[in-house]
Amino acid sequence: MNVANPFADPLRFDRRVPECTVVIFGANGDLTKRKLMPALYRLAYERRLPASFAILGNSRTPLSDDAFRDKMHEAVKRFLEDSPFDEDIWTSFARNLYFTAGDLNDPELFSKIGAKLGELCRPNVLYYLSTQPSYYGTVVDGLGAAGIGESRPGGWRRIVIEKPFGHDLESARELDTRIHKVFPEEEVYRIDHYLGKEAVQNILAFRFGNGIFEPLWNRRYVNHVQITASESIGVEGRGAYYQEAGALRDMIQNHLLQVMATVAMEPSAVFEPDAVRDERAKLLRSIKIMKPEEVPLHAVAGQYRGFRQEPGVDAASQTDTFTAATFYVDNWRWAGVPFYVRSGKRMPKRTTDIAIQFNTAPHALFASQDGGPPTRPNLLILRIQPEEGISLRFMSKQPGSGMRLRPVSMDFNYGSSFGERSPSAYETLLVDAMVGDATLYTRQDMVEASWRAVQPVLDDWASRRFDFPNYEPGSWGPAEADAMLARNGHRWRNS
Ligand code: BG6
Repeated sequence: MNVANPFADPLRFDRRVPECTVVIFGANGDLTKRKLMPALYRLAYERRLPASFAILGNSRTPLSDDAFRDKMHEAVKRFLEDSPFDEDIWTSFARNLYFTAGDLNDPELFSKIGAKLGELCRPNVLYYLSTQPSYYGTVVDGLGAAGIGESRPGGWRRIVIEKPFGHDLESARELDTRIHKVFPEEEVYRIDHYLGKEAVQNILAFRFGNGIFEPLWNRRYVNHVQITASESIGVEGRGAYYQEAGALRDMIQNHLLQVMATVAMEPSAVFEPDAVRDERAKLLRSIKIMKPEEVPLHAVAGQYRGFRQEPGVDAASQTDTFTAATFYVDNWRWAGVPFYVRSGKRMPKRTTDIAIQFNTAPHALFASQDGGPPTRPNLLILRIQPEEGISLRFMSKQPGSGMRLRPVSMDFNYGSSFGERSPSAYETLLVDAMVGDATLYTRQDMVEASWRAVQPVLDDWASRRFDFPNYEPGSWGPAEADAMLARNGHRWRNS
């Protein structure tokens, strides 16, 4: 079912998934356990999957179907956030879980998968690539060679590819060419799960569903924007993957640049999938490309003490576990407004938010009472997680005689306003892929524009030796990240 305008579709959240088999490559990995399987189970719990829905896991280590079911049972119970676990529903869901072991370099594996798909006999197949990113090309080649990548009458074959899509601009292009040898573009779903988060989708509702914010949304009123995604966890057993990636590739190139594009893009003329994606792409293409000599001023790399001792990590690793960068957007709306973006592991808390700081009042009418600034700039905070919501900070008169001002805040909380659970990003995106709606998936031109924006930083860092570690676990990252903002007279919130 292709829905031309999913936003106009009142049943968007009640869409029913067609009969299908999801083949997960990397089924023993962290993503499958923490996100994919809990999301699929939750869809079953909500009766949104057909009874015949099947999942075929693959990874190298041999496992029987039952052993795979046991592993997934444990993972779902552990990682299912804010939902009840029901053993009966699990039992009927788990009946359709299967496993095929094999090496991704071995063509035999793909014949085995083909045979199993034949046995399962569901009309549609969704391949989900959640292996080490360096294997994506190999899997696509394998599917192509085994003749199991092509859609057929009455049944589609689709592929979902986890980020990072490529390792840099050139490899992203190569991967795209390789994928298109097997899958046509309309069956390719490049996932960026941040776009599936309710609070990220709400940025569009907030900006374009209200009349009062858009007039302020530009360089005349906005002083700067801070986008933070901090995590208190470290690499959690993903040392081998993370060492290849680092924070810039793992979080900034994809998640945070997509969030930035959502905050800064122009409204589309119509709310149709490609119209929205065109605007996001246009914004990403407008990001000013740093000159080599600007990189040390606009980008900071950090690594927490202890990263090098994590399993799978090189003892002299130069991988960034923290990145902060300043981006500018070269267009009429945003010229000269810094967008500060940062993300790191082992920071004081898990939080993702966007802080839009407006210019201070142009004239200080009220005297300072305590030597501090007489007034503070308005701040609009879009909270993506953990507590989804929006706050607006403004100055208010303190009760009592005299004119003492204090910042106060007006808050909207998803939880208390709607009183219902938001679906996880993976629930939303898995259903979207299965019903054929790519609105919340990225497109190749967006992926390439994001690589182009970070490529000067990647090039510069590849030629450098950092004096790592340079931040303590539980801190807000290296001092250079504060210095980057201080040069513009700004400070990170929370730091
Ligand atoms: C993933 C990254 O894409 O996003 C992880 O690979 C990171 O390193 C995760 O932990 C964060 O996602 P979320 O939804 O928990 O903010």
